[in-house]
Amino acid sequence: MNETLQMLRDRRSIRAFSDIAPTDEQVSLIKEATLRAPTAGNMALYSVIEIHDQKKKEQLAKLCDNQSMIAKAPLVWVFLADMQKWVNFFIDGGSREKGEKEGLASWRDLGLGDLHLCMQDAIIAAQNAVVAAESLGIGSCYIGDVIENFEELRDLLELDHYTVPACMVIFGNPKSEPTGKQTPRCPQEAIFMQDRYESPTLEQLQYAFNEHEKMRRDLKILPFKNTGSISDHYYFKKHTSSFMQEMNRSTKVMFDHWCKS
Ligand SMILES: Cc1cc2nc3c(=O)[nH]c(=O)nc-3n(C[C@H](O)[C@H](O)[C@H](O)COP(=O)(O)O)c2cc1C
Repeated sequence: MNETLQMLRDRRSIRAFSDIAPTDEQVSLIKEATLRAPTAGNMALYSVIEIHDQKKKEQLAKLCDNQSMIAKAPLVWVFLADMQKWVNFFIDGGSREKGEKEGLASWRDLGLGDLHLCMQDAIIAAQNAVVAAESLGIGSCYIGDVIENFEELRDLLELDHYTVPACMVIFGNPKSEPTGKQTPRCPQEAIFMQDRYESPTLEQLQYAFNEHEKMRRDLKILPFKNTGSISDHYYFKKHTSSFMQEMNRSTKVMFDHWCKS
């Protein structure tokens, strides 16, 4: 196994950070690696807002389901799907006008396809950042709750029309050596399919998530006083939770806003 594969195999999310922040040089290296991520048409359909303002970090922590570690993280990056830059470029650079005047093309309002592509760009760039940080010994954790409370987040970060949060990552030197087992993963055959989608049966799902269930049973953190299944855990703790309801409400507002010309 080479060093890269070993690093990917050993990675785990880090949520508690030491007081020693990543150096400017390290941050610059992470930025360079982020920018080298593949990007659709090489258009860099994303932007990254680095949060320095402590008040904004605290506000973000609150908006992201009160996860206090966000306020304590030395480096906080919000990855935006960003088509605004190209809308500006097309309009201010005269391409739109040229298209119309010369009958070459008429303006096309942005749609969900644009958004999907921008999201892909942003998330792929984020994962490059995560891997680059890991290679420098800097831990990281994605924060999925950044897609909640869109209206407040938009105000906080002064987002423009065609910019929406795709994901958020917090970084920092780990406070301590991680202890305990890594989180389990599904076996390969439960994820990789050949030539077509194969809807999994109950038995296949139980097999796929057996390690997840075992870990939670050992830690005594399954629902119904640890008698419940892994399906119960995800159903009651995630799927039917108020934060998932908020994510769906907020994402609808976000996507509707994007599609409004
Ligand atoms: C899209 C996404 C959203 C996540 N959101 C959160 C979050 O809000 N809070 C958190 O503590 N961890 C979050 N995580 C980290 C996951 O909980 C973590 O990746 C998972 O439990 C597997 O653990 P590992 O990364 O240590 O292998 C998120 C990860 C992803 C990919």
